Amino acid sequence: MAEELVPETPETEEKPIKQRKNGLYPGVTDELAENMRSGWADTELQDLEPIAQAAHTAARRAALSARFPGERLVIPAGNLKTRSNDTEYTFRASTEYTYLTGDQTQDGVLVLEPRPAPESTGTGGHDATIYLLPRSNRENGEFWLDGQGELWVGRRHSLGEAGQLLGIPAKDVRGLAAALGDATGPVRTVRGHDAAVEAALTDKVTAERDEELRVYLSEARVVKDAFEIGELQKAVDSTVRGFEDVVKILDKAEATSERYIEGTFFLRARVEGNDIGYGSICAAGPHATTLHWVRNDGDVRRGDLLLLDAGVETYTLYTADVTRTLPIDGRYSEIQRKIYDAVYEAQEAGIAAVRPGAKYRDFHDASQHVLAEKLVAWGLLEGPVEKALELGLQRRWTLHGTGHMLGLDVHDCAAARREAYADGTLEPGMCLTVEPGLYFQADDLTVPEEYRGIGVRIEDDILVTEDGNRNLSAGLPRRSDEVEAWMAALRQV
Ligand code: GLY
Ligand code: MN
Ligand code: MN
Repeated sequence: MAEELVPETPETEEKPIKQRKNGLYPGVTDELAENMRSGWADTELQDLEPIAQAAHTAARRAALSARFPGERLVIPAGNLKTRSNDTEYTFRASTEYTYLTGDQTQDGVLVLEPRPAPESTGTGGHDATIYLLPRSNRENGEFWLDGQGELWVGRRHSLGEAGQLLGIPAKDVRGLAAALGDATGPVRTVRGHDAAVEAALTDKVTAERDEELRVYLSEARVVKDAFEIGELQKAVDSTVRGFEDVVKILDKAEATSERYIEGTFFLRARVEGNDIGYGSICAAGPHATTLHWVRNDGDVRRGDLLLLDAGVETYTLYTADVTRTLPIDGRYSEIQRKIYDAVYEAQEAGIAAVRPGAKYRDFHDASQHVLAEKLVAWGLLEGPVEKALELGLQRRWTLHGTGHMLGLDVHDCAAARREAYADGTLEPGMCLTVEPGLYFQADDLTVPEEYRGIGVRIEDDILVTEDGNRNLSAGLPRRSDEVEAWMAALRQV
């Protein structure tokens, strides 16, 4: 067993109570303080079952341990961020911490402590410990006077409960930073989440070595395990219901704005999951040509298209990323259909190129080829198609890449090296979006007027399987006539 990083009773000073400043308790008499110490039931939970992903997180930690033998690895969840004065943004645990623990607690830190290596093998593996804030102390008033006391923010799991649930021994996080500062030996951390942890390690880590850890944790997530695939399907299924919700309220959105659509989808995300996985793009009319239109304050008008790009994030933080471009009045106009059907054809070609052994870039190339063909056929782009593609001229209207990995992050695995991602080969268990689009800006004088202000994207979440792929978002229609029939049926109920 390695020497304990933080002993059971840390010699560090107790964290001072940070009283809330909202003036609800202007003064505390000794009598009240004494009164608040007692009269509370013991609510410790016993014999808890581990969370569903515990076996998977254990396997992920084992793989991490094997990659960095003999080194201490420190993976923080992150801290609350101030929104204004004494209110904070909703907390979202770091992807790396969530991936390795299944936990989402603010200020949590996972530490993999290297065991002494037996001479015979040269490597002893690691002991994992999760460092968390314990239940609030009732003796010293922390529980009701501290801003993070349980009376204010709700009951936390005790360290014993957390250990049982996560399958990782849990210890008090207070004192961890100091202990990390005092500890010796090679260490790496994931940067950007916890300033106190980083400050404690500042003389012990290098940016280059920490980056290797970040890259490893990105590449480890490229192929999803069975639990992750199940969660992605749940995220997509909730997202499908969220799109149905939106279709049903389009007339109400017409009376207000894109915000009604945003709010409607958000309701589904919060009721069935943790949140939305990224800011919903609710882009009506010409806003559809702005790729990341998240202001969502525009008008919703009959005769226009609505480009809705939205995804529910599950309670375990896996997100969907789906786009449909819908006729607000239920039927595509002639020019809208022409552009929509071209994007559909491009998406079909892209999805058909997703299979094990294919190059990652194949689906992008397949989609772009179709779009360039259409643009040449419509006389918007000078041929031949191959020449236009070589020069990338179609990109004036296709604008973005055709997809990306999907998982805990909407743009998942972003720190992976090119050879493991963009220049890599598809394998079963990878999950990616296929999302071609055509966008004709309202002020684009190079296209006939009827095209201007039309933006179309169709985006689905595609799992690479042993023999091809599975469209996780097949629950939403994609073909223009099927979209119209689906909308008509939803609006009748
Ligand atoms: N919603 C962002 C994207 O599609 O990549
Ligand atoms: Mn999207
Ligand atoms: Mn996407």
